[in-house]
Amino acid sequence: MIVRGTLMFSGDKSISHRALMLAALCNGESCISNLSTGTDVQSTRKCLEACGIKIREDGHDVIVKGGTFSDPSKPLNCGNSGTTTRLLLGLLAGQGINAKFVGDDSLSSRPMNRILDPLSQMGLKSESNAGKLPITIYKSDLSGIQYKSPVASAQVKSAVIFAGLGASGTTFVTEPTLSRNHTEKMLAGLGADISVNELTTTISKLISPLSPFELSVPGDPSTAAFFAAAAALVPNSEIILNRVLANPTRTGFFAALEKMGAGMECLKQWNEGGETVGNLKIFQKPLNAISIEEVNIPKLVDEIPILAILATQANGKTEISGAGELRVKECDRIRAICENLQNMGSGITEKKDGFIIEGPEQLKGAFIKTKNDHRIAMAFTIAGFISDGPMILDNPECVDISFPEFFTYVQKFEKQ
Ligand code: S3P
Repeated sequence: MIVRGTLMFSGDKSISHRALMLAALCNGESCISNLSTGTDVQSTRKCLEACGIKIREDGHDVIVKGGTFSDPSKPLNCGNSGTTTRLLLGLLAGQGINAKFVGDDSLSSRPMNRILDPLSQMGLKSESNAGKLPITIYKSDLSGIQYKSPVASAQVKSAVIFAGLGASGTTFVTEPTLSRNHTEKMLAGLGADISVNELTTTISKLISPLSPFELSVPGDPSTAAFFAAAAALVPNSEIILNRVLANPTRTGFFAALEKMGAGMECLKQWNEGGETVGNLKIFQKPLNAISIEEVNIPKLVDEIPILAILATQANGKTEISGAGELRVKECDRIRAICENLQNMGSGITEKKDGFIIEGPEQLKGAFIKTKNDHRIAMAFTIAGFISDGPMILDNPECVDISFPEFFTYVQKFEKQ
């Protein structure tokens, strides 16, 4: 097999969620194109519709008629999506909505006090299942606070910012390390009273609704990462990834790949709607090990499963530390990476907050326990490109969460 071709990806998942939510706050019709095709973003859409926001398709575009939110008559089903749950908790709290949030088994086991704590300090009345879903929020008057988040999480930061849009006074949120900043950038672009000073974001209550916007969402770098890795791993490969989001809070994986020695060329870079976007060429070259520490984790937090696969083929000792957040993602990703790589014959060592891999190692095909986690499924499918023997995934369909087209893209290479 050779990985060759030019690829484009459906819209970035983080920006897609935010585009729908912000459009819902606008006074009139916004037009979003290249929205993420994943089921997570569908969950956000359905929850907004259940709160009275009208959303329809117009060809390939999605039209959102924003305005006033209403109490949903049924629980909001957030499916598998942490971003839907956490950002909507903040947004709906700020809009004075009564709502119950539910989700699938994975989502129902994920920590939500990281959101409920700041929101309750702002005055939100809520009930939860010991800090997890189901959660019910009650219409409450919110006031601005100064919140220092203990975790570097864009979901926490964004929930507080969204709540701040409906809170009296000014809200400040400080994070320990910079996480993805799309919420801040998009709100600033829409003219909200928001400012960022190093790790602190300041937001004031919205005094009038935002004006509708048009946005074409740039390609998702977290999806592109799997194909970049495939090209970096398979001899004689070369791939071009077009119109990929290149926001510096999201490019940690590509920086790591370059540092490992992969062939990489930025063909073009430009600005679109406040975000940097680029075309990138990736080709196979021998890889070296890399060390990644806590301060760099937020920039590649979703790419660590595929980074682990790359590390198995790199010369030397790769060590990932300070990535304890991976234990509370769609599954315990540190455990899932270690368990599956060990089954493939890797000598990976599990740590509390990461892992160590000594490469290069010959991997063998195995039965992969995806834990219904899309990024585990995609990373181990790519591992199959360089393993001795086939990979069998227990639930390949879980890729639909972020990239339903994944296996169609993979099949193109299998034929080459
Ligand atoms: C996201 C933030 C990250 C990331 C998730 C999407 C977002 O989560 O892992 O896939 O869109 O804000 P945390 O903020 O919890 O790290």
